[in-house]
Amino acid sequence: MGGSEAFVVTPSASRLSAQERASALVDPGFGKIFTDHMVTLRWSEGSGWHDARVRAREPFMMDPASAVLHYGQEIFEGLKAYRRPDGSITLFRPEENARRFNRSAMRMAMPELPETLFIESVEWLLKLDGDWVPEGEGSLYLRPFMFANEVFLGVRPASHYVFCVIASPAGPYFQQGAKALTLWVSDRYSRAASGGTGAAKCGGNYAGSLIAQMQAAARGCDQVVFLDAAERRWVEELGGMNIFFVMEDGEIITPPLGTILPGITRDSIIELARSEGYAVREARYSIEDWEADAVSGRLRESFVCGTAATVVAVGEVRRLSGSFEIASKAPGPVTQSLQTRLLDIQRGRAPDPLHWCR
Ligand code: COI
Repeated sequence: MGGSEAFVVTPSASRLSAQERASALVDPGFGKIFTDHMVTLRWSEGSGWHDARVRAREPFMMDPASAVLHYGQEIFEGLKAYRRPDGSITLFRPEENARRFNRSAMRMAMPELPETLFIESVEWLLKLDGDWVPEGEGSLYLRPFMFANEVFLGVRPASHYVFCVIASPAGPYFQQGAKALTLWVSDRYSRAASGGTGAAKCGGNYAGSLIAQMQAAARGCDQVVFLDAAERRWVEELGGMNIFFVMEDGEIITPPLGTILPGITRDSIIELARSEGYAVREARYSIEDWEADAVSGRLRESFVCGTAATVVAVGEVRRLSGSFEIASKAPGPVTQSLQTRLLDIQRGRAPDPLHWCR
């Protein structure tokens, strides 16, 4: 299956009116409001992908013995659609999401979805719910995901899955908007270990981060930073975003791939920074160096990035042994210029030399 004619399209009979939609778009926050439709496909051993449907967003009927509810076979993606100045809608690097989705599927012993079907599904949802893509600084966050729905309690890869795409208009991920973040370094919990699922975008990775995120919130921090599992000293990533360090000589460091999520925003920032002449190093950076460099002023800026978060400066880092501030927390000039460059490309306000928008 691969052609768009295979999708059965049944528009919702109860879409929000233009007025209701407009008021939902005034201050959508993140992940709270959903559009009128969803796309679903099913996969079964023997028949592969089938039953592609574009239809009203509605609850799933789940058998309590569905495998995902017990062993967590679930993966997801996040990508955004933007409204360009001419009113058209653009997606940012959706092929990268399709590829990462399949790498996650492979790691979680789930069936791969042809990239064309992933993209067609997203495009179908935009065809029906394109009016939900906000103008101005907002975007429409698209959430493709897949879960095991075989009714079976044995521990093995399931033989039935559902793929679905939903969409949610999005404002800033952090309530405080672009204000620099305060981070908590978890001394107790790791996110991923070598050979584990850290590079897969599976729900379990996020579930496992929540207790550390709760501890961060209890200490007045916006996000948790995880260190590596083996030595507890190498900075890896946050609960839901990657991290960068900008040094006084202009070098930019970011943790290497392996146990971290291979962020598409991370990759785009690396490419953009290199194209602007920065030396970007994907290298291990320890919590001790982070603190010492912040205190000495060798570290000028830190920022985090992700599809949902975009690019946000780090202002302060707290840990059990104390806290330190980043020299330039306003955001600093490098953070600001990369953030603007990326947003301008995504929103069609600047040329797109690497053909990222589609
Ligand atoms: C994304 O940035 O798309 C994510 O999935 C991360 C999550 C914190 C929303």
